[in-house]
Amino acid sequence: MQSQVIATTPIPGQKPGTSGLRKKTRVFMGPHYLENYVQSIFDGIGGVAGRTLVLGGDGRYFNDRAVQVILRMAAANGAAKVIVGQNAILSTPAASHLIRSRGTDGGLILSASHNPGGPDEDFGLKYNTPNGGPAPEAVTDRIHQATQVIREYRILEAQDLDLSAPGTARLGEMTVEVVDPVADYAALMERLFDFGAIRRLFAGGFTMIYDAMHAVTGPYAVEILERRLGAAEGTVRNGTPLPDFGGGHPDPNPTWARELYDRMMGDDAPDFGAASDGDGDRNMILGRGIYVSPSDSLALIAAQAHRAPGYRDGLKGVARSMPTSAAVDRVAQAMGLPCYETPTGWKFFGNLLDAGRVTLCGEESFGTGSDHVREKDGLWAVLMWLNILAETGASVRELMTEHWRRFGRNYYSRHDYEAVETERAEAVMDGLRSALPDLPGREVEGLRVAAADEFAYDDPVDGSRSERQGLRILFEGGARAVFRLSGTGTEGATIRLYLEAVETDPARLDRDAAEMLAPVARAAEALSGLRRLTGRAGPDVVT
Ligand code: G6P
Ligand code: ZN
Repeated sequence: MQSQVIATTPIPGQKPGTSGLRKKTRVFMGPHYLENYVQSIFDGIGGVAGRTLVLGGDGRYFNDRAVQVILRMAAANGAAKVIVGQNAILSTPAASHLIRSRGTDGGLILSASHNPGGPDEDFGLKYNTPNGGPAPEAVTDRIHQATQVIREYRILEAQDLDLSAPGTARLGEMTVEVVDPVADYAALMERLFDFGAIRRLFAGGFTMIYDAMHAVTGPYAVEILERRLGAAEGTVRNGTPLPDFGGGHPDPNPTWARELYDRMMGDDAPDFGAASDGDGDRNMILGRGIYVSPSDSLALIAAQAHRAPGYRDGLKGVARSMPTSAAVDRVAQAMGLPCYETPTGWKFFGNLLDAGRVTLCGEESFGTGSDHVREKDGLWAVLMWLNILAETGASVRELMTEHWRRFGRNYYSRHDYEAVETERAEAVMDGLRSALPDLPGREVEGLRVAAADEFAYDDPVDGSRSERQGLRILFEGGARAVFRLSGTGTEGATIRLYLEAVETDPARLDRDAAEMLAPVARAAEALSGLRRLTGRAGPDVVT
């Protein structure tokens, strides 16, 4: 087999965002696009000669083709071994686990997460470091620099490898090990959670719907929930992964997992409902007649994790992204746990987890996870909830009601304004940024601004600083409005407005979130002119 050196030139725009490089699939399929980026990853991490990598993706359109290209490039660049998921499939948390448990030099994960898939939709690729987590900014910066100076890439001239069954093969000098994508991950979950207790819960008639959204977690959920835990057959819905996710948005939130949401609010709702996203790292949690916001789910888990065997000794600390509500802070305070506030993006949790400062992390963007891997983990969150439900014997509603009574409630909602013209979005952000110094003390819509700033983060472990991570307006009494531009979109700009209001009055803990947040929403509009400046009547997505 011949290793080829192909001449190329830098392709503009190959800059990793919140979570790797995400582009339209056709862009990734364009001449040299994937190859340039893969070579730049290899160059940016100091080459892959003699190294072992993990490789797999969420099964979206072009996943299978891209994996074959990456295998040939890894071989031509001298990699010793690539561990690849059967049929090129690995959920993001399963990939993170493999990277760690096999002591590899990192991995390449192909996914655009919750974005739709297909020839006209989105594709993505990211590099995870040997700790199993998304590459930190210092690494993604080097990868980006490499994309700007690339002159050539290396690729082996070879036929596609058969990845349809576990086993070992050679590609030139390189070993390719094809692994069952579910086995190791399922074994890890069995170590963390009390499968016996959850099995008894299901045996006692507990009912559940798990919506895999035609994405990667289907096979994982069938194996774990139905086979190992004995949930009724059919508990897992939309369990067959499809390259275009059945034409849907594989994003577990009340908008895109509408059918599940409506079912859970209906008369014939099961006890528990959950969903995960395209690559298996996100989760949505529902009980009969109740939606648990991701921020509340994080707080509840922080308070109850000790009920699961893997967390019996308690938590070392907790972390949340800045726009995530402070519900978990209240738990941390009450339990005497360190609590960290990081910028948006799971990569910012990596150092805290590696340094043993935190056990549990979460984000408002439907991500929850722990130090068991270095990614958020959808099924992990579902199993954690099941373990808590099994141990307490309470319903989701009872658990949340009790939680709010004990800690107070942070009403929370996120409003997304999608595909806004970039200039307009920047005008909103620039206008608000320059107004920030004048906001403290201002009264608007019955609220008084206590502080306003642009969030910056100093990593307590490596001392690195990340600036411009969102505009915050804090009101007296704990209410808050945060403005951020999304770092994961592929078209125009998405403005995210995060709204929060604190309530400790026991008589006001069970209200409608939109109603409780209406004043802070009006104040946010008055101070930013978001709707006025974008010409939008309201958000496209509310979570
Ligand atoms: C990905 C990352 C998350 C992040 C989310 C939202 O899912 O893994 O850590 O919170 O994107 O990012 P965005 O920049 O679109 O708000
Ligand atoms: Zn995801």
